[in-house]
Amino acid sequence: MKKVFICGLSSILVLLQTNAQITSVPVYLDDSKPIEMRVEDALSRITLEEKIAMIHAQSKFSTPGVPRLGIPEIGMSDGPHGVNKEIDWDSWNSAGWTNDSCTAFPALTCLAATFNPELSAIYGNAIGEEARFRKKDILLAPGVNIYRMPLNGRNFEYFGEDPHLASQMVVPYIKGVQQNGVSACMKHFALNNQEKWRGHIDVEISDRALYEIYLPAFKAGVQEGGVWAIMGSYNKYRGQHCSHHKRLINEILKGEWGFDGIVVSDWGSAHDTREAALYGLDVEMGTYTNGLTLSKNFAYNDYFLAQPYLEMLEKGELPQATLDDKIRRILRLNFRTNMNRNRPYGSFATKEHADVSRKIAEEGIVLLKNTNDFFPVHKERYKKIVVIGENAIRPLLVGGGSSDLKVKKEVSPLEGLINQYGADKISYTMGYGSGPPAYDRVIPSPYNADSLKREALLLVKDADVVLFFGGLNKNNQQDSESADRITYDLPFGQNELIEDLLKVNKNLGVILISGNGVAMPWLDKVQGLMQSWYLGSEAGTATANVIAGNVNPSGKLPFSIPQKLEDNGAIAFGTISYPGDSIRQIYKEDIFVGYRWHDIKKIPALFPFGYGLSYTTFDYGKISADKKEYSIDDIIKLSFTLTNKGNLDGAETVQIYVTQNNPSLVRPTKELKGFQKVFLKAGESKTTEISIPVKTIAFFDDKAHEWVVEPDKFTFHCATSSADIRSSVTVNVK
Ligand code: BGC
Repeated sequence: MKKVFICGLSSILVLLQTNAQITSVPVYLDDSKPIEMRVEDALSRITLEEKIAMIHAQSKFSTPGVPRLGIPEIGMSDGPHGVNKEIDWDSWNSAGWTNDSCTAFPALTCLAATFNPELSAIYGNAIGEEARFRKKDILLAPGVNIYRMPLNGRNFEYFGEDPHLASQMVVPYIKGVQQNGVSACMKHFALNNQEKWRGHIDVEISDRALYEIYLPAFKAGVQEGGVWAIMGSYNKYRGQHCSHHKRLINEILKGEWGFDGIVVSDWGSAHDTREAALYGLDVEMGTYTNGLTLSKNFAYNDYFLAQPYLEMLEKGELPQATLDDKIRRILRLNFRTNMNRNRPYGSFATKEHADVSRKIAEEGIVLLKNTNDFFPVHKERYKKIVVIGENAIRPLLVGGGSSDLKVKKEVSPLEGLINQYGADKISYTMGYGSGPPAYDRVIPSPYNADSLKREALLLVKDADVVLFFGGLNKNNQQDSESADRITYDLPFGQNELIEDLLKVNKNLGVILISGNGVAMPWLDKVQGLMQSWYLGSEAGTATANVIAGNVNPSGKLPFSIPQKLEDNGAIAFGTISYPGDSIRQIYKEDIFVGYRWHDIKKIPALFPFGYGLSYTTFDYGKISADKKEYSIDDIIKLSFTLTNKGNLDGAETVQIYVTQNNPSLVRPTKELKGFQKVFLKAGESKTTEISIPVKTIAFFDDKAHEWVVEPDKFTFHCATSSADIRSSVTVNVK
């Protein structure tokens, strides 16, 4: 009896204490209070040692928070095409979970090729839901580095060559992720446009090219997308590593653009405690000891922003204020993510996400050539469809480096075609073979190339139609992190194989799977060509749907494919421009990236930026402007009528490029300033309006350090690709 009484009394005491706590909840835990007030309150309670712990990794993908105060750990995951598998706390080995197989979404090149910002929002939301379900607070994505030349191993993770397209596509992705209470982490800031020597190459570039080409997508992500985190890049710019960079981070990102989130280092991209402390790095993440060497396990205390920083602070060698600025930013991120009690719970590897993935894949595939309506391959027309090529069966979600994914499901193109046409119609052989997936080295192919080829030549002999699936494969030097491609040609003897197959059977179409353009010496001889991408979980279903004509292709190239490598602006200036002399490189082509180079030099691309065919045809009406004259704060309203002339429903991305007629300095011949994907039923006609704020047609005056719109005549072109203008209208800007 007595015992029971004592128990009862202590329960009441606990209850009273709890009530007392409820009435005096600390400000930082009170979500009715403004975030900035909560930030200041939390900051005032955190000790110096706790602050130091917050700003560097405690494991491969997390920072510790402040357990004493109930401020949670921050958990991160790659990005950008799916949520990575769980790995060990302090090694890169798989943690062996059985419930972490995700949905793989198409690579960002594919998303860019849809030219459909609505799909980008849906993509961002779906991957955000997956990250949230997996209890991640930061998704290390999206990547927005500009496609400068076709050898960059990581172009597949980015949005192509044009700053306007990349900006339009990145903003909805970020918003979609973050509406789940998960922070996006836009990367790699900045000028990480190649993998070769990425850890130290020192980029020299004009301010004009920096502001007009390489920064706009980052700026849009910050100012329009409201991104909460950004990853600094490995390389240098003006002699300083970009992850702690006075100009890039302090002056431009946090100064000019007013970014209030955190800058996270790339894994091992911090190099100096003083610079990291002073030049804007908020969280140091790493691969090994101080992020840089392989020599030690559990080396987190040795990180530049760990013990060495603490010691310098204690000796008074570094100011407290910059540390507090980092803590404020991290707390803001906590309140936006894992301390936001209203965030949704997410969902994972669902049928809905697979459908999203398939839909984006279908809209991103680009039809490049279609002689005599080779595509769609109608089921009724053919008895024997022969499929050749390793990429028809190779798991393409494995590899590529940090974007490697463990997936719940990956439908290969061959599987998709068999599902579509039936196993009795489809015959397959590899034709060529590469090595097993390897990220940091080249493993030779275990196959005998001659016998693979011989078998393919035999099989295509009596085929009604041949579909060749080739391209690159996310192995080292084939679209992968940490190494660039070493040649513009297709690897593993594919060019010769295609030529040899054509000698036996001319009714052949090629489907290239890659994140980069490649040389196509056989182009004139093949009947059909599709540029496909690393398409994600539903790759095969989407591919088969487009090949069979269940889906009408509507993708457009997000980069130019030059005839030969030297036709690319960055390559044209020799090694000092790309890849550099191993220490330094100069972006000599300046603002003339991609189609801007092809235009100004009058070098036609093999396939231009913005190009892509459909199974139907579109008729372009004449473009008109709502006024003849505009001033700087106006919005120019352009309209045109588009008609679907064929018998199939379809979509066309109409592109608006602008030319300044008499600029005081050299400007690109034309630049993309607007686009609209118009969906039309067979025979339907639609008048579409595109609004272009006059301010967005400015150039960056690097002497005055400001954006300038000169009073002049400007011509707006309505185009179906960067090389095919359908009509133009000229207006006056006062
Ligand atoms: C990559 C980043 C990635 C990070 C973490 C780095 O090697 O450059 O993009 O987010 O690793 O995996």
